[in-house]
Amino acid sequence: MKVIVTKSYEESCRIAADMIRDEVAQNPATKLGLATGSTPIPVYYHLVEMFQKGEVDFSEVHTVNLDEYWGLSPDHPQSYHYFMQENLFSHINLNPQNTYVPKGTGDAAQNTAELTQKVYEGGVPSIQLLGIGANGHLGFNEAGPTLVANAHMQALTQSTIDANSRFFEAKDKVPTLAITMGMREILAAKTPLLIATGAAKAQAMHGLLVGDEITTQNPSTFLKLHTGTVVIIDEELAIMSGAK
Ligand code: GLP
Repeated sequence: MKVIVTKSYEESCRIAADMIRDEVAQNPATKLGLATGSTPIPVYYHLVEMFQKGEVDFSEVHTVNLDEYWGLSPDHPQSYHYFMQENLFSHINLNPQNTYVPKGTGDAAQNTAELTQKVYEGGVPSIQLLGIGANGHLGFNEAGPTLVANAHMQALTQSTIDANSRFFEAKDKVPTLAITMGMREILAAKTPLLIATGAAKAQAMHGLLVGDEITTQNPSTFLKLHTGTVVIIDEELAIMSGAK
């Protein structure tokens, strides 16, 4: 696991965007694993800017997203389909047919099987961008007594519902279920790339960066099993989490 400590969250996002740009330059038909949440938004902003300046061409790139709320249609403003359109897809030259966000409506078993297929078909993602939940969750793989290996339907914990309620009109409007890649799909990427910022992530990042323990109570600790993992963390959070 490689840990990059930056001066600021802004710098963290710039470095992540540069890594993605360099990957696409080297492998124009690469597959990127994408994430939602507020953390990666500036990464997408940088990628859009790079595209506008002609520094990167996404025309052959494939993408697959980590997760989607269950019960939200693609045009729901809080769906991850909508998020990806707004923050990235509509601004760059990705072929819509080469993008895949898990389906939050329809047949759950079929949708999870399709997500797994999209991760593996034609080769696994080169970079899998990741944020982290306050309880250490990746995608929607929640902290708990067990984790699930493959793509699945996940019940959200109260702490995740509370944290994500800031995007909804009311707490009772937050979906209680989500469809997510499992740990196996996340760890299939050549480079799982986690960006973390903010005091709320200090405890989870402590578990990831300090010591050698792996626990389902902090799913991010499973990233220790992957030698290609890259963690980008700003100095402020590195200090708060005891990693520096
Ligand atoms: C959601 C997403 C995760 C994300 C997490 C943290 O639960 N499913 O992929 O990492 O939120 O989001 P934020 O970056 O807004 O703190």
